[in-house]
Parts: sequence; C-alpha cells; structure tokens
Amino acid sequence: MRETSHLSATVTPFAGAGQRPAVVPPPQPGRPLDEADETAVGSVTETERILVYVARTPDPALTAYLKSRGWDLATARTAHEASRLVKPESACAGIVDLTGFASRDLAALEAVLRLQQVGWIALTDATRLTDPEVRRLIRHYCFDYVHLPVTNATLDYLVGHAFGMVSLCDLDAPGAVAAASHDEDEMVGTCEAMQQLFRTIRKVANTDATVFISGESGTGKELTALAIHERSPRRKAPFVPINCGAIPHHLLQSELFGYERGAFTGANQRKIGRVEAANGGTLFLDEIGDLPMESQASLLRFLQEGKIERLGGREQIPVDVRIISATHVDLEAAMRDGRFRADLFHRLCVLRVDEPPLRARGKDIEILAHHVLHKFKMDSARKIRGFTPDAIEAMYNYNWPGNVRELINRVRRAIVMAESKLLSAEDLDLAQFTEQETVTLAQARESAEKRAIEAALLRHRHRLTEAAADLGISRVTLYRLMGTHGLRDEKTIFAGEAENQPEPPAENEE
Ligand SMILES: Nc1ncnc2c1ncn2[C@@H]1O[C@H](COP(=O)(O)OP(=O)(O)OP(=O)(O)O)[C@@H](O)[C@H]1O
Ligand SMILES: [Mg+2]
Repeated sequence: MRETSHLSATVTPFAGAGQRPAVVPPPQPGRPLDEADETAVGSVTETERILVYVARTPDPALTAYLKSRGWDLATARTAHEASRLVKPESACAGIVDLTGFASRDLAALEAVLRLQQVGWIALTDATRLTDPEVRRLIRHYCFDYVHLPVTNATLDYLVGHAFGMVSLCDLDAPGAVAAASHDEDEMVGTCEAMQQLFRTIRKVANTDATVFISGESGTGKELTALAIHERSPRRKAPFVPINCGAIPHHLLQSELFGYERGAFTGANQRKIGRVEAANGGTLFLDEIGDLPMESQASLLRFLQEGKIERLGGREQIPVDVRIISATHVDLEAAMRDGRFRADLFHRLCVLRVDEPPLRARGKDIEILAHHVLHKFKMDSARKIRGFTPDAIEAMYNYNWPGNVRELINRVRRAIVMAESKLLSAEDLDLAQFTEQETVTLAQARESAEKRAIEAALLRHRHRLTEAAADLGISRVTLYRLMGTHGLRDEKTIFAGEAENQPEPPAENEE
C-alpha cells in the first residue's frame, strides 16, 4: 500500500473516538477474559496471530507473557522500526506505548498508526493524555487505550479483540481490497483535510443513509462516491452514476425511471431506468443542482416510498438503492431562489461530505503531481524523472481553480510537451507563478492567512469556535477574516454532524 493510499479498504478499523471493540466478538482471537485465563499457558493457536509492540523501553515481562499467549510478537523501539515490521498483506494487532515518546516523535508515529492492517491499542498515562496531539492520535487511530499500569491479561484481551476486528474486515472485504488495488481508484491524500475525508468515507460507507457531497469542480466528488460504495456492504451490486446536468431535461425522467413499451412514440421496447439498474447498489446523482423540478418531485416520491413507476407503466416497483448526490454549485442559493426543493435537499443530505479544494491541501499538491507523473510517464518517449524546483514552486503558488482534474491535465500535457527529463513550470504552463519578486510581503501574508483559515475551517468542519481556537484568535475575529477573504459562503460541513452548521458570531465577544 502506498503511503498516500490511505483508503485501501483492507480494513476499516478507525471508527472513531474511544470506540470499544468489544461489541462484536472476533472469530477466534477475542476470547472472553475468563476463558482466556483458563487456556494453558504456552498454547499456540492455529491462525498466526501477529502483534507489533512499539515502545521506547519494551516491558520484558509483558513481552514474555504475550508470547506465551500464542502471539507472534515483534518489538520496535522507533516508528521507523515498527513500519518495517508491519507486513502490508497481513492483519495484525499493535500495542503502542505512548508514554515513552516525546511530542517530536509523534508525527513519525502517526505514519505507523495510520497503517490500516493494524488494530492498535494505546498505552498511556494521565500526564501524556493532557497532550492534545496524543489524544488526537488515540481518537483517530486506536481501537482502545488503557492507563498504565495495566494487567497483562487485560492487554492480551484487548489486542485479541483488535486483531479479531482487523482480521474480520480483511476476510469480509475481498472485493473491496481488489478494487482498492486498482490505480484508478486510488485516492491520494496525506493532509489533515484529506485524512478527515478518508475517515468520513469509512464512517458513511457503513450506513445506508443518503450522502450529499459538496465541493468545487474537479476535487474528487465522484471518486469519493465510488470509494463510499466500494467500502459499503453494497459493493458487490452496481454503482450507477448519472450526470443530471448532461442529460436533456425532457429525457431525464425516462433515463432515471425507465419506460414501458409503447409509453410514447418510439418506445419500442421496455427500458430499465438508472434507479432500477442500481437495485441493491448505489445510485450516484451527479450535478444534482441541475435536476429539473419534474424530476425533483419524482425523486422525492421515490425517496419517500422506495418504489418507482416506469413511464407508461402502472406497476409500483420496489427498488433498494443507496443514494449519493453531488454538486459543485451552491444548493442553498438554489433553494432560496426556488430552483431546488428544500424537502428533497433534506432527504438527500442526511450525511454531508465536503471535498477540500486542492489549494488547501498543502504538501498533497506535490504528492499528487508525482502520483500523476508516475502514472502517465510512459506517455513520453523521454525518461521523465520529476519536476524542476520552479515547477514545484509554481504549483504551490497557483490557485488551482480546476483542482485535481486540472493538475492531472497540466501534468499529462507537460509529460507530452517536455523537452528535458524534468518538468518545468513552463511545461506546466505555470511560468508566471514562479516570479516570487512580484509578490509583496503583504500579499504573501494575506494568502498564507487565507490558507491557514481555510485549512482550520476544514479541519473543524466549519465549527468557528474550534477553528478560531486553533488559529489563536477569537471567533469574532475569525468571522471578520472569513469575510475579508471571501470565505463566508463556503460550507465545510462533514458527515452528518448536526453541530456542524455554521455558527453566527456571539454578539458580545471581543
Ligand atoms: N485525491 C485524489 N487522488 C487521486 N486522484 C484524484 C483525487 N481526487 C480526484 N482525483 C482524480 O481527479 C479527477 C477528477 O475527479 P472527480 O471526477 O471525482 O471530481 P469531481 O469533483 O466529480 O469533478 P466535477 O465537479 O468536475 O464533476 C479524476 O480523474 C479523479 O480520479
Ligand atoms: Mg463529477
């Protein structure tokens, strides 16, 4: 698995804060504690139970105990060592003792905790838990955590469950694993906003609720919809996309719901609509903002009743689909203008996912550019090795209105046009974005400020209080700066959290 393909569906263990794994007994490793205690010490289980123990100073008594419980145990003193021990193809349990690692080690540790084939249990103490970074790592990546001291038996029990859950997901999802291994499906993203998106995808994949994806053009809305489908229990059934904006209005109704033979002149045979074609799977309604009023009414009826009627037909046909919709336009404005039904919007938007714009993804811009280069470098007769420093600089300075799609197009064009082994800013047609001297310090500050605010809003799903705290300013100042930078209209709301609605500033603050 690549560093960047955080979404490989091998396992989906990071279900959220403080989640205890004990609700589903794992198939074999998760024995009840008392039963485990009765097992003879030294017994070896048939399935290989791999456990990685990461600690600055590993506890020899714990190591000996876990080995005696049948764990195939490997010990690592650093994050680097740990990453070498984890095999990409096999599920394993992990113990990470956070008490020995300094704050500066946590970033390296995060890369290991992020490995999806490992079910982590964190060891910590009250002092370490006061560090917000430690709390975040536990929340995002661990099945559970325990305060030291802890009994060896309790740890054995917890890692058994973590391992069981990871193995369960692994066995459960062969289709998803295969799909995720295709390059086309790979979602690249290492920044916090993308990590948040990946977590959201995993969470929403497990439900059947409607999902509404909002984001600028080319940010990856369709890719996200597909990722949700592929990680959902519906993955073996069809994923049927329909671009509501690309189909003439008068054809949309029959395209969505199908028709019976003789329904209208030229209807020589029955046609199954896209909704019905997606039965058992997922229907992706792209550019939902372009759905004409007539189809909005029919869709709403379908969402309420779970049945469709083909054009010219009398029969009510039950159809079981999960609906994901997306738009790059402001649907709130469309509702205000009476172009989109509010009742339909609320049905479509039980869970909401927001795609971060490329310019707010920091280092991911460069990582994505290399990813695209790697994928398409064979298009060139030359052996293209990378980008010149001015190309990298230009990529960071540019605003990317067309987001990831634009980046792909620019890099692909550059691969074909390049006359040397390194792609330059000129090859990317971004030469004018390398001229640092034309940027005044005030402009640089302003754009850095805008990026920081955008990133904080994305990180905190538009919760102003938390974003402001992160930025070290008051909520009122944040709100004012959002106005200055034209960020007030943006909705950065993620999956289904009611408290995510943008808050107005408190009157008396500051
Ligand atoms: N995180 C990502 N990693 C790799 N490729 C990506 C990522 N996000 C988007 N892409 C690629 O960028 C292109 C555009 O993605 P997609 O079609 O999903 O965007 P969109 O938001 O639906 O665009 P539009 O608004 O124009 O319909 C696709 O080729 C997709 O594979
Ligand atoms: Mg799209």
